[in-house]
Amino acid sequence: MPFYVTTPIFYVNAQPHLGHTYTTVIADAARRFFRMSGEETRFQTGTDEHGDKIAQAAAAEGVSPKEYADRISAMFREAWPNLAIEPDRFIRTTDPDHVATVQAALEKVHEKGDIYFSEYEGLYCVGCERFLTEKELVDGKCPDHLKEPERIAEQNYFFRMSKYQDWLVEHIKANPEFIRPERYRNEILAMLAEPLEDLCISRPKSRLSWGIPLPFDENFVTYVWFDALINYLTGLGYPDGPDFEKFWPGAVHVIAKDILKPHAIFWPTMLRSLGLAPYRGLRVHGYWNVDDTKMSKSLGNVVRPGEMVEKYGAAACRYFLLREMAFGVDSSFSDEAMTARYNSDLANDLGNLFSRSLTMARNFCDSRVPAPAAFENGDLELKEAAEKMVETFKREMRAWNFHRALAEVWLVIGMANRYIVNNAPWELAKEPEKRPRLDTVLHTLLACLRLIALCLFPVMPDKAREMWLSLGLNDREPDFSRDAAWDLLAPGTSLGQPAPLFPRLAKKKTGGKQQQPKAKSGKASNRKKDKGKENLIDISEFSRIDLRLAEIKSAERIEKSDRLLKLTVLAPEERTVVAGIAEHYSPDELIGRQVILVANLKPAKLMGVESHGMVLAIKDGGRLILSSGSERATPGSKVS
Ligand code: MSP
Repeated sequence: MPFYVTTPIFYVNAQPHLGHTYTTVIADAARRFFRMSGEETRFQTGTDEHGDKIAQAAAAEGVSPKEYADRISAMFREAWPNLAIEPDRFIRTTDPDHVATVQAALEKVHEKGDIYFSEYEGLYCVGCERFLTEKELVDGKCPDHLKEPERIAEQNYFFRMSKYQDWLVEHIKANPEFIRPERYRNEILAMLAEPLEDLCISRPKSRLSWGIPLPFDENFVTYVWFDALINYLTGLGYPDGPDFEKFWPGAVHVIAKDILKPHAIFWPTMLRSLGLAPYRGLRVHGYWNVDDTKMSKSLGNVVRPGEMVEKYGAAACRYFLLREMAFGVDSSFSDEAMTARYNSDLANDLGNLFSRSLTMARNFCDSRVPAPAAFENGDLELKEAAEKMVETFKREMRAWNFHRALAEVWLVIGMANRYIVNNAPWELAKEPEKRPRLDTVLHTLLACLRLIALCLFPVMPDKAREMWLSLGLNDREPDFSRDAAWDLLAPGTSLGQPAPLFPRLAKKKTGGKQQQPKAKSGKASNRKKDKGKENLIDISEFSRIDLRLAEIKSAERIEKSDRLLKLTVLAPEERTVVAGIAEHYSPDELIGRQVILVANLKPAKLMGVESHGMVLAIKDGGRLILSSGSERATPGSKVS
């Protein structure tokens, strides 16, 4: 069935933040997943621009509501491409086709006799843009906005929502998938156990002019929720656009728990009155806090998507959001949690697996996919686990359990890393008669990586594509039915060069760009030049440093240190060297590697281990890269 996914259209009284980002990322990931599952898909997001809240925000800035809405709406539209979010339509409630659709829908409901004029007095929360019932208040205040609602008494138009209450209860009961997760379905059924009031759907122009005029009474504008919900129809060309017929039966709305009532009660009853089938599903997620505190402008802890992407990159942000939040339950964001996941899941587990595999394929197989020989138990275990991963991933994604889908992928990434250690391809490479075994191990590894990349496409499309292309595959979005078989890596295929997918982040510094200090005056830059001269050394000084080629025999972490590894190297005699590279290399990928050693340093004790020399590494931004040149040499050779 075609799949149509929407996010709420966001109010333009606030700039995009982490909460909006999460909803929009998951909608994008879901659409990519369903598209890769062979379904026709459509994805819509946008901005909600009418109503009291926006009129008040614009007035506070001294600009017209439209000017104000144009500015903030553009911020939403421009934020999404940086996160690889690609909606088919970015809708604004001020778009002319939307205004026309709302008026047509109002006419229809009016003609049906479902709209009447009456007097009403109620408690209005501008934050929620709706009347609250006494029951919804906590200590007389709106629990979401912590403000006392305004008492409003006026004559307005009403939608006969109560008329559809019994039908709605039946529909929810008969369709367990209609509102998910279960807790929100139960919440709505509990609300519907009480008699439903009719919905006030207009505002007198004398009080609020920033809205869509009612087609049957020019003295009133449309209530903002009645206007906003209809965006889901406008985007499909309701009533007679071809996309409407195709996509409406597969409509899935993603929202957070804050706007459950309008989506689970107002909207289905409005659709029923319009003579339309209800949407297929409502998917309701929890709230993001920041450092375990509610995100709020006044606390100054609002996380902006632009800043997140600048610090961590789009792929890591998307991954974190999907991996960290159990769908439906609140979660907390912090820079520490994000950095930890980045370094451990992305740089270490996935990044290392990818670069080690490609490095070995380059060093031992001339950067080509080797043909496997006989499979052993360990190979078959990895193959079976990877095949099961694809099935579990698909099942969990369909059930909107993104965190579980990703946990399964990381299980296999862990297995593949252990598979490398267990099979030590660098040892196999030393013995020509073990060539068939080496080929089988590397083939198995690359085939496993291909399935990992396949699963990662909906989650981090750009990085998955990078992996996919490095594996010599076509530049097209893969497909779960065509590409999920194990055996699709043709021997002989040319592979890309290893490049770090996720360079490690520095532990403490997670903030913005590093700026090079600039010399302000001529004097300062002269001083800089002189300083350069002071740094010059005589060749005789350099010749005192004994640089040697060393081969790493074994490596292990030093307890209580995140940074240090204890290496046993041959140079050519065996010696122990402590190197501060643990955040950049895992011990087992270092074995067999050749590095350059400063061999005549006085021994020094680091974390209780005596080091006899120092390994040289290139510092590139936050990364450390070990280097010894591309050809192997005899351990102990002098570097000159
Ligand atoms: N304009 C209405 C929606 C109309 S839809 C027909 C609206 N706008 S909003 O700007 O307030 O957006 C609310 C939505 O933003 C939530 O439902 C959720 O998708 C997202 N989030 C805003 N803050 C959030 C968190 N702190 N955490 C998670 N998502 C949250 O309501």
